[in-house]
Amino acid sequence: MGSIQSEQEFSVDDWKSTEIILYVNGVRRVLPDGLAHLTLLQYLRDIGLTGTKLGCGEGGCGACTVMVSYYDPHLKKTAHYAINACLAPLYSVEGMHIITVEGIGNRRHGLHPVQESLAEAHGSQCGFCTPGFIMSMYALLRSSEMPPSEEQIEESLGGNLCRCTGYRPIIDAFRVFAKTDDAMYTKSSASISGGGFVCPSTGKPCSCGENAVNHNGTSTELVTCSNIYQRVSYSDIDGSSYSEKELIFPPELLLRKIVPLSLSGFGGLKWYRPLRLQHVLDLKLRYPDAKLVIGNTEVGIEMKLKNLQYRVLICITNVPELNALSVKDNGLEIGAGVRLTVLLQVLKKVVAECDSHAISSCKAFVEQLKWFAGKQIRNVASVGGNICTASPISDLNPLWMASGAKFCIVDCKGNLRTTLAKDFFLGYRKVDLGHNEILLSIFLPWTRPFEFVKEFKQAHRREDDIAIVNAGMRIFLEEKGGEWAVSDASIVYGGVAPVSLSAPGTERFLIGKSWDQELLEGALETLRKDISLREDAPGGMVEFRTSLTLSFFFKFFMWVAHQMEGKVSLLKGLPLSHLSATQSYHRPPSSGSQNYEVEKSGTAVGIPAVHLSSRLQVTGEAEYTDDTPTPLNTLHAGLILSRKAHARILSIDDSAARSFPGFKGIFLSKDVPGSNSIGAIIYDEEVFASTTVTCVGQVIGVVVADTHENARIAALKVHVEYEELPAVLSIRDALKFNSFHPKTERFMRKGDVEYCFQSGACDKIIEGEVQVGGQEHFYLEPHSTLVWTMDGGNEVHMISSTQAPQKHQKYVAHVLDLPLSKVVCKTKRLGGGFGGKETRSAFIAAAACVPSYLLKQPVKITLDRDIDMMISGQRHSFLGRYKLGFNNQGKFLALDLELYNNAGNSLDLSLAILERAMFHSDNVYEIPNVRIRGRVCYTNFPSNTAFRGFGGPQGMLIAENWIQRVAMELSKSPEEIREFNFQSDGSVLHYGHKLQHCTLRQVWDELNASCDFFKAREEANKFNMQNRWRKRGVAMVPTKFGISFTAKFMNQAGALVHVYTDGTVLVNHGGVEMGQGLHTKVAQIAASAFNIPLSSVFISETSTDKVPNSSPTAASASSDMYGAAVLDACTQIKSRMEPIALKHVHNSFAELALACYMERIDLSAHGFFITPDIHFDFETGTGSPFSYYTYGAAFSEVEIDTLTGDFHTRVADIVLDLGHSLNPAIDVGQIEGAFVQGLGWVALEELKWGDDNHKWIKPGSLYTCGPGSYKIPSLNDIPLKFKVSLLKGVPNPRTIHSSKAVGEPPFFLASAAFFAIKDAILAARQDAGLNEWFPLDNPATPERIRMACADEFTKPLASVNFRPKLSV
Ligand SMILES: Cc1cc2nc3c(=O)[nH]c(=O)nc-3n(C[C@H](O)[C@H](O)[C@H](O)COP(=O)(O)OP(=O)(O)OC[C@H]3O[C@@H](n4cnc5c(N)ncnc54)[C@H](O)[C@@H]3O)c2cc1C
Ligand code: FES
Ligand code: FES
Repeated sequence: MGSIQSEQEFSVDDWKSTEIILYVNGVRRVLPDGLAHLTLLQYLRDIGLTGTKLGCGEGGCGACTVMVSYYDPHLKKTAHYAINACLAPLYSVEGMHIITVEGIGNRRHGLHPVQESLAEAHGSQCGFCTPGFIMSMYALLRSSEMPPSEEQIEESLGGNLCRCTGYRPIIDAFRVFAKTDDAMYTKSSASISGGGFVCPSTGKPCSCGENAVNHNGTSTELVTCSNIYQRVSYSDIDGSSYSEKELIFPPELLLRKIVPLSLSGFGGLKWYRPLRLQHVLDLKLRYPDAKLVIGNTEVGIEMKLKNLQYRVLICITNVPELNALSVKDNGLEIGAGVRLTVLLQVLKKVVAECDSHAISSCKAFVEQLKWFAGKQIRNVASVGGNICTASPISDLNPLWMASGAKFCIVDCKGNLRTTLAKDFFLGYRKVDLGHNEILLSIFLPWTRPFEFVKEFKQAHRREDDIAIVNAGMRIFLEEKGGEWAVSDASIVYGGVAPVSLSAPGTERFLIGKSWDQELLEGALETLRKDISLREDAPGGMVEFRTSLTLSFFFKFFMWVAHQMEGKVSLLKGLPLSHLSATQSYHRPPSSGSQNYEVEKSGTAVGIPAVHLSSRLQVTGEAEYTDDTPTPLNTLHAGLILSRKAHARILSIDDSAARSFPGFKGIFLSKDVPGSNSIGAIIYDEEVFASTTVTCVGQVIGVVVADTHENARIAALKVHVEYEELPAVLSIRDALKFNSFHPKTERFMRKGDVEYCFQSGACDKIIEGEVQVGGQEHFYLEPHSTLVWTMDGGNEVHMISSTQAPQKHQKYVAHVLDLPLSKVVCKTKRLGGGFGGKETRSAFIAAAACVPSYLLKQPVKITLDRDIDMMISGQRHSFLGRYKLGFNNQGKFLALDLELYNNAGNSLDLSLAILERAMFHSDNVYEIPNVRIRGRVCYTNFPSNTAFRGFGGPQGMLIAENWIQRVAMELSKSPEEIREFNFQSDGSVLHYGHKLQHCTLRQVWDELNASCDFFKAREEANKFNMQNRWRKRGVAMVPTKFGISFTAKFMNQAGALVHVYTDGTVLVNHGGVEMGQGLHTKVAQIAASAFNIPLSSVFISETSTDKVPNSSPTAASASSDMYGAAVLDACTQIKSRMEPIALKHVHNSFAELALACYMERIDLSAHGFFITPDIHFDFETGTGSPFSYYTYGAAFSEVEIDTLTGDFHTRVADIVLDLGHSLNPAIDVGQIEGAFVQGLGWVALEELKWGDDNHKWIKPGSLYTCGPGSYKIPSLNDIPLKFKVSLLKGVPNPRTIHSSKAVGEPPFFLASAAFFAIKDAILAARQDAGLNEWFPLDNPATPERIRMACADEFTKPLASVNFRPKLSV
């Protein structure tokens, strides 16, 4: 025990007089008192800097990334780093310089090279993630003394999510900053100095020019582009210098001394920033319940997501004693306030400089920190914050415990005491700290010779994810009498109990034992007793988690033995292939290549032009709904949501809401002026639930208040009494209780299935079941609408983030009882939609329009991410039951299929989605006899809805499952079976459609050659022979996707084109730009039609008062349809202009347009298009519902860790037939984005609902409702080699400019990764003597992979065909 003496009397009153300042983008801003409740993000957006986006509000997406800079007087240096503005308390950055995306460049004064590069490289689709990526990259460059390596660049982007691009173009855009030579970059994409080649895909200098064949004189150009770019450097970009245009660090902040702060916030919140330890202790004495805050990455989440209220926050970031870091003789002393990035830097230095035997713990920490959160979180989160939170899944606490770390604690009187880390954690989020104590520092001892420490972590996603199970293990071996035996051991796990848990029995067992096979077996047996999870343990995955504890120990055993190699052989008798257990994943920089033909038509069609909004998006100037400036009297809406899956509403008590500050009104079903019934196809939903709720998250009413936050909290305060009713919580429940949406049974038939089964023609008949999990859209921009009235409610206008403005118009008119002509909905752009904003945005707009109309005030509603995910529906989960007959050659003869989709509590689009799944149930295979019966299940979940592929992928995945099984039954490869059954021209499908222009075989052959499947197979086999615990798998999967809405009436499109007298053209059409490049392609068509440059065409927005009665932007067909409608309008105008044009006296289009105007020629036209020759009779289940098909195929190679289920995609090779692409760069972007989104669906993203399989979740509630628990692919998940080729020389006779639709078709191709994973598992099972077919549900998460790799560790826990629980 020691003590710290109080230096002087403490008084916070002295702190108040100080001016509180902040620099934002070089502008000095004085902050008033009273804003302690605000985050930096709220402040930035409030002052109009809306370039910084709110994607999740929980540090999980990176959309809010900004750079902070401050002057460190001790180091005499300015530090720069990226942070998540959504978690940073506003006052925590007092005295610092904040740079947002607006601060580094704009279109008027010039883009910053980082912005330029991303725009040119097609790295911005919807653009909502873009400012965050820009700022992460900018901060990396600004903070680097040397140009960063490619690995550093990829690592620095780990905390940024993108749902559109598939990351490849983002990496390529930023890779050019990893300077290795001094070649100068040219900003022009049209030329490059020295005659070099500019990649048409990325707009960057590129070595692919050597491969490019240019057919001069024709309009065809063949482009093969890989991203082995010439390195380029920007002379003005490195950490030390600033270009003329860049904001320098404000001189005032260099001189200004940091001051202590005493401030306040909403609801009596107090905020202190002491600068001395003594003051922290004094404050803690005064406010024993005060929360210390450093990174706020834990406290911020608690306050926002768990609604915890803290009255006093003490920001301890600037307390020197807490930031001390010193290397001592016996170890490392680390202040509790040290940020993780700083810790990592010091540890790396120590590892590089200290004796190798001393740094085993340090190395383990370095490795573990690599996978700790994203860079933005590590930049602010502290060591002490992590320790004191005492999360059972803390990544560091097991390591502190295992490595024998000691914690130094100080109390308010300055008394010091020390405790061992292993004694510090007392229970769930409970530590050995009194109210009057804080953690001062941590001491990490050096390891001794032959003392080994190792870290372990398995998460859903490798990067930026919390652990499912982690561990820290230490062993000290000593030689006694020629034998190496254990003299000390520490085995600690996270994720298996409410605290980080030692395995005491195992530790005891190890002592004195030799490190050999016998020890291993005994230790595993003891471990099983030490670590036991209850069947209903929170978090579920009990078998998987238990298996991980064993796998980790086995890995540790092998690793230690390997470390000892050379000194003594501890691996006697073990084949070398077992060493694969010790290999940890290291990711080399990824690479991609794109291969396509440029078929140029006119001025713009066919060229790989960049997205027209990309420069607006990279500068943060692009406005999304939530960025729209609002009138002063705007109110904010918070939804009152059901907390029960199925219940009668007994009473609603709104008294607490009414007395909440800022409250302006509450509106329930009785207040709806028009109809309370709404729905996408049939009116089976209520705007506000009136008597009964049918899912958790159903809207019961809406509260409006002066701010978003007040509306949110006031809505939470509305108390609803329920009488619970039985709920249907899965497809199986629906089958059991006969719970289906009315009139939704569908049949499709071909041939005679029964006869075939009984005829004896089938050599084999198999039956089985396939479960396909759902998927969250996770568009980066949440649902948002701003609605206002005009003329006292005579008109209603709104701006909405929707794929279907016309649906918003219709819902709002219906709910307010207004004619459609008096309601207008506009949409400028979406931050992603993917089907999630096709219908499910409309009920949110409907809820917001009621208070706006009744109060005659503008109302804005923007959903928080968790609410958005909880209430707005997802991709349908499916259950497929099949019976298949085939012969010994592998020819399919008869398929009898039952398909069920989980629709949720309203019909929405579920029937059409089921129908599309039925249409695609043959994928690309000839099956002479087919019978499919489909049913739409009614369940008590929020209504599921459209999602890229619209049921097609589920139908195809079920087919590919039984194909894989057929292959196993016949001991053939699935690829052989696939190819053997291919459809071709003339094939008649199970709904009577006859195939024409089928390019499947060409696609397949090209892919086969490109991926060299035979060689890949051989190499995977060889690898698998040499590695017992790591396996590789390969697969090739084809697809065929029908293009058209299956509801015939929806296949119509309108457009409005105006030619102005300056020769510019304004286009409006019914389609919505959501990142897919629709406006760019349509503008290209208009530009070519008038033979003018693309820059002369502008598409401003989608608006129901310009083009009426539009279908939602969906079904991939928008470019086809709106392109054709625009062309129709252009053609009309052109024909009117022709008489004047024929005079040939005009030097430009502008002159021609003016001349036409002078001749009183109408320069405006409405264009219209209907898709010809489509029809389908749902009664008979026959017809030709699709205009044509898009064909494609993909190859994947994956590697799995059979002991943990960890996997990565080594290669993805894709070939797609897109006819003559309208814009190959945009199409490549769609393919890559769809593939990575599909990869999420098949391998990463799992929705966990409160159902029979997940009893630890409240019935009907969504557990995975944010990026913290729901993992979409991050940059680290994309294929290491990512190749995309467009099939050449195949014009599509059925569409405009011979192109094909691209949005949905490539999504399913990611199933190649799923089947490659299954192939790898197969190899693992064969090593364990298991050669039979086995089930693998979608998604193949680490849990499913590991449990399917049945071995001696899993066998005591689960059967070899164990299927981990899945919400279906
Ligand atoms: C997106 C995201 C990803 C994450 N990923 C991971 C991950 O991969 N692995 C992981 O382990 N964690 C992860 N976390 C959790 C969190 O980031 C860490 O626990 C972090 O280290 C907390 O540090 P902080 O400084 O932000 O804590 P704060 O939120 O500032 O404080 C946390 C708690 O610690 C207390 N505290 C802080 N310092 C002291 C002290 N000196 N004495 C006494 N009490 C103190 C505070 O009062 C508070 O209760 C993640 C969090 C987020 C938001
Ligand atoms: S909004 Fe801040 S990380 Fe998502
Ligand atoms: S471009 Fe990244 S989320 Fe849309």
